[in-house]
Amino acid sequence: MEAPLAAIVLAAGLGTRMRSRRAKVLHELGGEPILAHTLRAVAATEPHPLIIVVGHQAEEVEAAARRTLPHYEIYAALQHRQLGTGDAARSGLQIVPADFSGDVLIGYGDMPMLNAATLRDFIEYHRTSTDVLSFISVKMPDGASYGRVVRDEHGRVEAIVEARDAGLQQLSIAEINTGIYLAGADFLRSALAEIQSNNTQSEYYLTEIVEIARRRRVNVNAWIAPDTAEFAGVNSREELAQMEAQLREQVNRRLMKTGVTLLDPATAYISPEVEIGNDTTIGPNVQIMGKSRIGAGVLIEGTAWLREVTIGDRSHLKLGVRAEQCFIGDDCEVGPFANLREGTHLEGHNRIGNFVETKKATIGRGTKASHLSYLGDAIIGVETNLGCGVITVNYDGYDKHVTRIGDRCMVGCDTQLVAPVTVGDDVYVASGTTVLRDVAHGTLVMSHHPQREKPGWTVTWHQRHANHPKARGQTGDSSE
Ligand code: UD1
Ligand code: CA
Repeated sequence: MEAPLAAIVLAAGLGTRMRSRRAKVLHELGGEPILAHTLRAVAATEPHPLIIVVGHQAEEVEAAARRTLPHYEIYAALQHRQLGTGDAARSGLQIVPADFSGDVLIGYGDMPMLNAATLRDFIEYHRTSTDVLSFISVKMPDGASYGRVVRDEHGRVEAIVEARDAGLQQLSIAEINTGIYLAGADFLRSALAEIQSNNTQSEYYLTEIVEIARRRRVNVNAWIAPDTAEFAGVNSREELAQMEAQLREQVNRRLMKTGVTLLDPATAYISPEVEIGNDTTIGPNVQIMGKSRIGAGVLIEGTAWLREVTIGDRSHLKLGVRAEQCFIGDDCEVGPFANLREGTHLEGHNRIGNFVETKKATIGRGTKASHLSYLGDAIIGVETNLGCGVITVNYDGYDKHVTRIGDRCMVGCDTQLVAPVTVGDDVYVASGTTVLRDVAHGTLVMSHHPQREKPGWTVTWHQRHANHPKARGQTGDSSE
């Protein structure tokens, strides 16, 4: 049987180099917090318990973790003061039950490019080796601010030296520490109790466990991972932007491979979690975020902002659509310039045209609202036509109320439906009607005032203003 595995993800630091008030792991990459990416990779190795160490903005970081893995039991350990990665690991280890004697994987929360497959290979390596402590290193000609892996004359790992504490010769070492460690819980408990803070930053470095292992003459080794890019830690806004570009490139490449056309990959901003069917075309300047699902044969013309949307097959989003937490069924036409807010549900074959805003609106199959409408808190049947300027009056200053409209209705232009109100099936609403009361099936409803006329009124109107500075000349020509 395999030894049990626990994992600790360190995410308590502020990340001074970000120059931000926000905790580093909360900064977003691909539309999600940095932490979400790292955490998913770690969770894929199925550790129990899975612990995150929080400190700066502890509640927000913990919430972000739970949002990322809603079905995973996550334990949060609070590191009261950020005394270094070693101290953070100690805080995390306190959550691991005292009788747990399996392996503990420790990683930093700021490694969003990390792959689950690589972690699995590393765990496999550790378990088939005689190492008491293993960590992942990569070869990198310019190790920048990463810790350097110092080896002795026999090539055995001796220590990890932080760039800040390294001399010139050590700085030239081309092997760096990625920040992922694996060791038995018992070794970690005793080693972490031993680490000191005598370094340039007066911090407790987790990396010191390597020297401790050496002193105890137990096996410690670095597993050299093949792909350097996976272990890049985000430390500054510049690195974040570079990584964003890298991540987008990866996502776009994968999408194109599976049959999605990106007219301009440079301006397609699609989160890693998004799924898109084949023969879908995405125009320039499109952002698709969260767990969105786009069907096959969809056309998104361009300039769209979509978050957590599901779009059926063959739907067509014209220029300028914003949609959030929406369901758009098959064969819909949306936009140009439409705003579909949370809770919009288009059953299919719908047309939502320009300057239409929808919110908490269930719209039946084949129903259309082609121009200038607000449909909020509405339940609308099938094959109904909502004319230009139809408005649900849903808010009384205190509460929101529901408008119900049946099947096959013709709702005329410039109609207001004052909710709560129900309009039956096959109803005709004359244009300009203010619907105040429920309307029964098959009814024609109108609230027209009789039309009044004053023939010749315009001439007398202008005569009355003959001395006005804006008075019209004899020709009647005046352009404002
Ligand atoms: C660390 C390693 C370095 C390695 C690099 C890889 C140490 C001392 N150094 O340096 O060898 O090459 O990562 O990216 O470990 N954190 C806490 N509490 C703290 C301090 C940090 O939870 O008190 C968390 C941070 O939130 C972050 C992670 O630990 O997610 C790493 O901290 P960071 O300051 O980024 O370490 P580096 O200087 O990058
Ligand atoms: Ca880092």
